Amino acid sequence: MSSEALSNLLHEDRRFPPPADLAAAANVTEAEYAEADADRIAFWEKQARRLSWAKEWDQALDWSKAPFAKWFVGGKINAAYNCVDRHVEAGNGEKVAYHWEGEPGDTRTITYAQLKDEVSKAANALVELGVQAGDRVAIYMPMIPETVVAMLACARLGAPHTVVFGGFSATALRDRIQDCDARVVITSDGGYRRGAPAALKPAVDEALLECPDVRSVLVVKRTEQDVAWTEGRDVWWHEAVEKQSTEHAPEFFDAEQPLYVMYTSGTTGKPKGILHTTGGYLTQVAYTHWAVFDIKPDTDIYWTAADIGWVTGHSYIVYGPLANGVTSVMYEGTPDTPHRGRWWELIAKYGVTILYCAPTAIRSFMKWGDDFPAKHDLSSLRLLGSVGEPINPEAYVWYRTHIGGDRTPVVDTWWQTETGALMISPLPGVTHGKPGAAMKALPGISADVVDDAGKPVPDGSGGYLVLTQPWPSMLRTLWGDDQRYVDTYWSRFPGSYFAGDGAKKDEDGDIWLLGRVDDVMNVSGHRLSTTEIESALVSHPSVAEAAVVGATDATTGQAVVAFVILRAASAGGDADEVGSMLRDHVAKEIGPIAKPRKILVVEELPKTRSGKIMRRLLRDVAEDRELGDVTTLTDSTVMDLIKTGLDSGK
Ligand code: WTA
Repeated sequence: MSSEALSNLLHEDRRFPPPADLAAAANVTEAEYAEADADRIAFWEKQARRLSWAKEWDQALDWSKAPFAKWFVGGKINAAYNCVDRHVEAGNGEKVAYHWEGEPGDTRTITYAQLKDEVSKAANALVELGVQAGDRVAIYMPMIPETVVAMLACARLGAPHTVVFGGFSATALRDRIQDCDARVVITSDGGYRRGAPAALKPAVDEALLECPDVRSVLVVKRTEQDVAWTEGRDVWWHEAVEKQSTEHAPEFFDAEQPLYVMYTSGTTGKPKGILHTTGGYLTQVAYTHWAVFDIKPDTDIYWTAADIGWVTGHSYIVYGPLANGVTSVMYEGTPDTPHRGRWWELIAKYGVTILYCAPTAIRSFMKWGDDFPAKHDLSSLRLLGSVGEPINPEAYVWYRTHIGGDRTPVVDTWWQTETGALMISPLPGVTHGKPGAAMKALPGISADVVDDAGKPVPDGSGGYLVLTQPWPSMLRTLWGDDQRYVDTYWSRFPGSYFAGDGAKKDEDGDIWLLGRVDDVMNVSGHRLSTTEIESALVSHPSVAEAAVVGATDATTGQAVVAFVILRAASAGGDADEVGSMLRDHVAKEIGPIAKPRKILVVEELPKTRSGKIMRRLLRDVAEDRELGDVTTLTDSTVMDLIKTGLDSGK
């Protein structure tokens, strides 16, 4: 972030106190911070009692092998039972779990009782396919109810799922299936996106050419597209699941039973398999969902407008809302299909009271204009949330004004795939919100901002965000790579978790997030690694070398800009053609979200004497800025060469 943007942020003096009625009835009051501070462990034990345990834990936290944590040691629990069965047993079976809306306008209403039946049937079908506790199951699906059913069926059996975002390519899917050695894949023929059916099954077929150990593929029929069929391996969901009994007795597993693996980008090319386990994860998602969204299960209609393929979907479409027995909205498609008011139409139709989405969506809505939301009745909304990237004050204020009718609090929630649940956020009934600030760590969470030496910075200064105490929903390790877990998160500042984000404490000590400090980009709230895209580019036969940077972008936060050196045989071709060929190649290797916005063909890349590419300088070029310090370059004329080359190409 530029220093100008930073000082703008810090001169933000608008404040939004909680509305009086919301504060008076709020789930959480100021006192909760002190209560948690007095005894953090007792506080989390109290939150864990929101859940139903078959056997209570003997020890709340075992940190003796830090940084490998165990929470609620000895406790026995089943995540699916907590999300579904217990609500039915409590007499709430008729309550709606999801109002689902397909992109073409088809709808399904699913009650908790129906969800229980579907999850039980799917669990029975998975057992028939040989799935046992501990087996990994890959899920590659559109945003349809069966995706939730599939996840919960896995959880019910103690079989960790790994959901791969439907926008990822066959190659990305293959890498993830191989990394966690999944033996069963659940997918569908496709889903609807931007007004047309998009296929998923062909990518699975391609991925599985190199995954010989996958024995079964369960396929949901959604779009009725033609699909290729591998006899003996492929099974239709409706044939395998519909015939099953709606009875399935859940087994209660150890609190540390793996619940899921979610792959996310790191600073090196290979995606990291973030491992979450059951008891601690479910405790913190249930608590944070209830506290930060001020959930009133009897009256709220809650909507996280995100994809289930990301952690936000796991924690706040599936596990959090279901653990709390809430009614949610789930929408399959894009916000501009068939028109740019689709979200607002849905809010009016279902009477949504709480909306949670990403700043990149908010900035798109701002660009489309105030008229779209103005045409719909949004008066049911009482609370808005933001996640995934820093929300700039203008977007915050627009969101509050045009969506929230200038009445709803906005909670800017900071967290990560690794943290599993919200960590830093305002509390809507307590906090006087500052546009652009995530404010402070939630009760029971300890965060700080430190300098290079790991020393907490004084108020008014910036540094690195760290988490100084273990938390229940923390990742337990990286799948199959304990050492990388230690190196990535716990080595930079011994004793603390290094989040990879820059942050600033303002004069009041409140926290502002300033974006990544490593080689991870944030494009429309999606984490992408510069190295991963560079590897994809270099895997193309015409590319000799590549460097990727994230350039600031008004809508998507950051945009991918790639600098490539072509191999001699390919040089001299048409720059536009090369650009589009390489963009398609990246889409094929990783997925369309990773496509560079711009590809610049250059003769040389700026490198330090130790051979490291100086991305900082390339970012200056990509953002059309004055160049920073070039003295550490091996050859300081390289940048002149790049700049003149690009200018003459304009
Ligand atoms: C960024 C998404 C500023 C941050 C839940 C983090 C944010 C990364 C915020 C995690 C926020 C997330 N303000 N930045 N409120 N929320 N981030 O794993 O850089 O997809 O490290 O998890 O997104 O992205 P992930």
